[in-house]
Amino acid sequence: MKGIINKGIQELVEAKFGAQAWEKVRELAKCEELFFSVSEDYPDQTTQNLVTAVCEVSGLSLETVLLDFGKFWVSNTAVETYPTFFKLAGKTAREFLLNMDRVHKQVTKNIHNAKPPSFEYEEFPDGRLLMHYRSERGLCTILRGIILGVGVFFNEELQVEETSCMHNGAPRCSIEVSFP
Ligand code: HEM
Repeated sequence: MKGIINKGIQELVEAKFGAQAWEKVRELAKCEELFFSVSEDYPDQTTQNLVTAVCEVSGLSLETVLLDFGKFWVSNTAVETYPTFFKLAGKTAREFLLNMDRVHKQVTKNIHNAKPPSFEYEEFPDGRLLMHYRSERGLCTILRGIILGVGVFFNEELQVEETSCMHNGAPRCSIEVSFP
């Protein structure tokens, strides 16, 4: 996994719980890195170990940590790292989400060993958007948090519900997004 996600975990912990908490997380996760470079590849296991350690240090459930991460990541780590995409990829949460398949393909095109998530979309007449997510990593809880984070960024209160999930045997995860 590219460092962009791990960088977000570090920034979230430092902002919410302080530098000492981050040191504890690093220690528990047996993570040697002092910081993460956004385009460098780190083992997926590092991300998992960090998330588990954040749950332990914060006392929060995995679901809460991953959703909090997603919300934080969009308005902080991602906006600072990719300001151009945030300017160009849409004026509303819907437009932005509809561009995410293209953006991930483009951003990772020249990055060796990248495995970006892929999205297919279904739009309904009542305005709901169904996002079908495929990934080797199955990070659908993070995805739900990131979608909510996109809403926060655009000042729109979104609702998300996962209607089917790879972890329960489905071929892909499907997240239904409702807009205000
Ligand atoms: C301009 C905004 C964004 C950029 C430039 C960006 C870029 C990236 C990059 C470089 C990765 C690492 C891929 C790899 O390791 O191969 C990643 C991972 C990921 N991104 Fe984004 N991203 C953006 C916004 C979003 C948004 C809005 C969503 C959700 C709708 C999203 C969902 C994810 C997920 C779930 C992953 C984890 C990888 C996986 O599921 O396999 N990203 N992104």
